[in-house]
Amino acid sequence: MDNFEFCVGTDILFGKGQLEKLPGVMAQYGKKVLLVYGGGSIKRSGLYDRVKNALKEFEIVDLGGVEPNPRVETVRKGAALCREKNIDVLLAVGGGSTIDCAKAISAAVFYEGDAWDMVLNAAKGAIGKTLPVCTVLTIAATGSEMDGAAVISNMETKEKLTIIHPNLLPKCSVLEPENTFSVPARQTAAGSADIMSHVMEVYFGAEDTFLTDCICESVLKTVIHYAPIAIREPENYTARANLMWASSLAINGLCNAGKAHDWSCHYIEHELSAYYDITHGVGLAIVTPQWMRYVLSDKTVDKFAAFAVNVWGLDPHTEKFTLARQGIEKLEQFFRSLDIPMTLGELGIKDEHFVEMAKHAVDFTGIGSISYVPLTPEDIVKILRECL
Ligand code: NZQ
Ligand code: ZN
Repeated sequence: MDNFEFCVGTDILFGKGQLEKLPGVMAQYGKKVLLVYGGGSIKRSGLYDRVKNALKEFEIVDLGGVEPNPRVETVRKGAALCREKNIDVLLAVGGGSTIDCAKAISAAVFYEGDAWDMVLNAAKGAIGKTLPVCTVLTIAATGSEMDGAAVISNMETKEKLTIIHPNLLPKCSVLEPENTFSVPARQTAAGSADIMSHVMEVYFGAEDTFLTDCICESVLKTVIHYAPIAIREPENYTARANLMWASSLAINGLCNAGKAHDWSCHYIEHELSAYYDITHGVGLAIVTPQWMRYVLSDKTVDKFAAFAVNVWGLDPHTEKFTLARQGIEKLEQFFRSLDIPMTLGELGIKDEHFVEMAKHAVDFTGIGSISYVPLTPEDIVKILRECL
């Protein structure tokens, strides 16, 4: 087991009626709130009115219209609003896109250059002071409600990049499962694939981490059990609650305690989203089984066999390569059973940009060096072709 630090300072308010506690938490940060939200789902569900009502003692400035795959333009707009209105605290009400946008705004306020410059230089110390961010989560997916990451897109340069810093961690996140009852089946499926991917990105590794692996397997089994129920019965509280907590646990550091990071599938998917603006979880569901088949080898087979037995309940007496392939097949079948399109062709994507996408992924991430199975641009092109 590798050394690790585990400190997640997000105050999680989980369950029914927890929104009521939010004003008390937010009051410690100030009175002027930038309320960040997406394309209107919170207005249709009535959550917008509930939030406004709960925060009636605060001065609220609205920033709606955050895009799925949030754009740097919206980050710039939000940072300008924070400066102009002397905002004290941000409240993101929505999914990962809204939360990520709020996080990036919270750092861009104090960054002297352009917001995209900050994103490009985040790993070189561009992120420092931030405004506090609180969240009200509306979809179980990214785990942004309990991690220090944000993913921002620049459609002009065709780039989607992750910024990571402890100061981006939300101060408080309200997790009311009922706020996810209105998530459509398509987004519930994509979010579930994303949660599973966060676990699988770190599960496959060479470290001896029995306890961490058991936690990973439990989160995976939780999603496998409850995602189909949430799709069939959108207002099933137990299913929505379990998916919501799985979303946070998958990426808050618990599932990779003592392990190296990988994130190969995410880095490949971010290229697809940057070029084709596809839904993150759908891209992951397509890429992951093909990545698995590509990296299956003498070095990795034992872990894939363990995945087949411990997550999918397959027969441990089967020959290990056969077992490993059966586990991958089970995963693919599961995603298909959630009605996720399982080829890039179904999304209208052809191979014309694969070479530049693969090169960008290697140049801008650790995919070619620190991954469990490092990938060259040629490897990535081959994986993407298998996804067609
Ligand atoms: O914009 P609105 O109208 O709110 O609608 C959203 C959006 O259309 C809708 N939605 C959300 N909650 C809903 C709802 N519709 C009805 N009822 C509700 N309760 O769902 C659509 C997708 O929302 P979005 O926020 O984009 O989804 P998600 O949470 O999957 O976020 C995806 C973004 O997060 C990034 C992804 O790359 C992508 O940009 N990620 C962030 C991570 C992080 N910060 O740690 C890690 C992830 O791996 C991921 O990369
Ligand atoms: Zn993800």
